[in-house]
Amino acid sequence: MPHDATSDDHQTRIEDLLGRMTVEEKLGQLQQLAWAWNTGPGGGGTADVEAAARKGLLGSVLNVVGAANSNALQRIAVEESRLGIPLVFGLDVIHGFHTTFPIPLAQAAAFDPAVTRTDGEVSAAEARSNGIHWTFSPMMDVTHEPRWGRIAESTGEDPYLAARYAVAKVHGYQGGDPSDLSAPDRVAACAKHFAAYGGAEGGRDYNTVDVSEQRLRNLYLPPFEAAVEAGAATVMAAFNTISGVPAHANAHTLTGILKQDWGFDGVVVSDWTGVRELIAHGNAADEADAGRLALSAGVDMEMVSTTFADHGRSLLDSGALRQDRLDDAVARVLRLKLRLGLFERPYVDEAAAITAPSTRTRAAARAAAGRCMVLLKNEDGVLPLDAGIVRSLAVVGPFADSGDLLGTWSLPGAPEAVPVLRGLREALPDADVTHARGVPADGPDTSGLAEAVAVAAAADAVVVVVGEPPAVSGEAAVRSDLRLPGRQEELVAAVAATGTPCVVVLVGGRPLTIGAWADRVPAIVMAWHPGIEAGPAVADVLTGAVAPGGKLPVTFPRTVGQIPLYHNHERTGRPYDPATPQEKYVSKYLDIADGPQFPFGHGLSYTTFALGDPALSRERITTDELHAGATVEVAVPVRNTGARDGEEVVQLYVQDPAASIAQPVRRLRGFRRIRLAAGEERTVRFTLGAADVGFWTNDPAGVHTVEPGEIHLHTGTSSHTHARQTLLIT
Ligand code: NOJ
Repeated sequence: MPHDATSDDHQTRIEDLLGRMTVEEKLGQLQQLAWAWNTGPGGGGTADVEAAARKGLLGSVLNVVGAANSNALQRIAVEESRLGIPLVFGLDVIHGFHTTFPIPLAQAAAFDPAVTRTDGEVSAAEARSNGIHWTFSPMMDVTHEPRWGRIAESTGEDPYLAARYAVAKVHGYQGGDPSDLSAPDRVAACAKHFAAYGGAEGGRDYNTVDVSEQRLRNLYLPPFEAAVEAGAATVMAAFNTISGVPAHANAHTLTGILKQDWGFDGVVVSDWTGVRELIAHGNAADEADAGRLALSAGVDMEMVSTTFADHGRSLLDSGALRQDRLDDAVARVLRLKLRLGLFERPYVDEAAAITAPSTRTRAAARAAAGRCMVLLKNEDGVLPLDAGIVRSLAVVGPFADSGDLLGTWSLPGAPEAVPVLRGLREALPDADVTHARGVPADGPDTSGLAEAVAVAAAADAVVVVVGEPPAVSGEAAVRSDLRLPGRQEELVAAVAATGTPCVVVLVGGRPLTIGAWADRVPAIVMAWHPGIEAGPAVADVLTGAVAPGGKLPVTFPRTVGQIPLYHNHERTGRPYDPATPQEKYVSKYLDIADGPQFPFGHGLSYTTFALGDPALSRERITTDELHAGATVEVAVPVRNTGARDGEEVVQLYVQDPAASIAQPVRRLRGFRRIRLAAGEERTVRFTLGAADVGFWTNDPAGVHTVEPGEIHLHTGTSSHTHARQTLLIT
């Protein structure tokens, strides 16, 4: 049951209001305008917004900043408009409001949905106390495109991981009861961008997506279905086309799948001017046509462009727009406002507005950032840095003493990140910690290189903090080259050549191609954009105060030429076989070693783990049993075989070797992050059902099938695993 049925009380109030509203007031409820600062072309102004609210011709406002401003605007709508319907205020609270958590891609690397739930809870409390009722998050676009800047906002390349995170984030924002979002520390969530936005050709933002029905349903839709099931109050349409039909005009996805098949009774909001862009897409003839197409396809609220408000009346009069569709859209907006309790409590208590991170929320962000870091490489026991041995530490690189580590979508006014240099100085109070920037984050300047080399050569160990700044990740921030920008590779090489034990801390919002220097350094930690507590969290991991246990939620390619490169790719008739590398007529590149730099699911720890063979609760099951809800349990013994306590993510993949639609070489269907003391052993259990062993077909009506035959189960600590068990479906 996706949503609780609308309560009788809400239904009565919706019908009463619909009976009293003029057509213009109805269209007004479907209009969202931007308040002051811009997040896209043609940003709004406060005067227009206030005038529309006063006339009762506005349903929602995005980007209102501050409790006093939100109250002032709300007062106009509630006290001066004819019907006094409150506004709903939305904002992109993506990974924090005042307390900036690690970027979503980093959170995915924790392989621990509790991390994202905590972000959601902290963010919701901070945002709602400032008069924000609705966040345009979580983003759940599965993507195989590291060039695409918005991969930073996503949870990476896997639909199962994305779905688990989508559910956790929705619960974090909304709590457990989607029919009541009125609590002062809850906000409505928005599952976005519906759908397939992550498939943009070439990674260029807003670009074309041509996708088969089976790939749409198997790859892109599962997180959305899970989010709707978890009660996500709203969904945002995507900027892209889906096989030629723009997502904003796509009746198949918006109405057929989302509203009819999944029973979604919340609001579909357009993206910023996404309705008017139907003209640029070459789909709508003019603004009236754009409004007709979007509203008829299932968009309920229009962000920033005004085609519904401007042309809705004439579309109705001409019969091009159905009255019942208009009323349905208005009912959805009113239902959202009722669920948020806005009619009873339209204002916030300005004295109670949260205006800064607290000690508690900073601690939560620090713990989250530590859990997100991925130890890519650690040779010669360079890590953890031993406080008893490291008397002098050099910290170099353009991001060593930088507060610019919050990541994309940090809110204006949010406190800067604590620099890595400060974190390490505080963590190693007895060490002599020196610093030199070396080179800037970008550009040709190498004038500081010699100084960085000198401080590195003089120290017991050196930490090099390199990567990409937040400004080159996120929306409309696409790169064609994923190497370290500027002269940073030279810095790494020069510092490594000193012979001082060297740790590279990589920051960034996407996989970076590090093949040119990865072999020269013994240790690499992927820290992503770690958020407000960046420095302390990096220090926690480098010193071993926190056991690293993160895993890559995306494949790290060797070069951009390999993209798209992802773990759950389909089989081919001529796969590359490492046992016969000289074979010519197979699927491979001639000029580069096969496979990625680091695979999906990869990540080391400071100890070692051994996994035993998985055991199945039963080795055969019928399709009828699976359809009736029967499951198979997979039990995997895990042992910490090292001398330190540590954390491991046990991963379960399935593979269907003979199906009517060629299946991916592996599909992640279970993961569990566990902490084991040195020498400790535990059994991790997974449950597999029809959703795990079946797949969606190409039937546009939506057919999920489970076919008889073998299913291979792979367990491991990354996606590079071997078949260990076979389940027979009869
Ligand atoms: C455009 C982005 O695509 C979307 O994710 C965001 O919520 C809106 N702008 C509003 O800022």
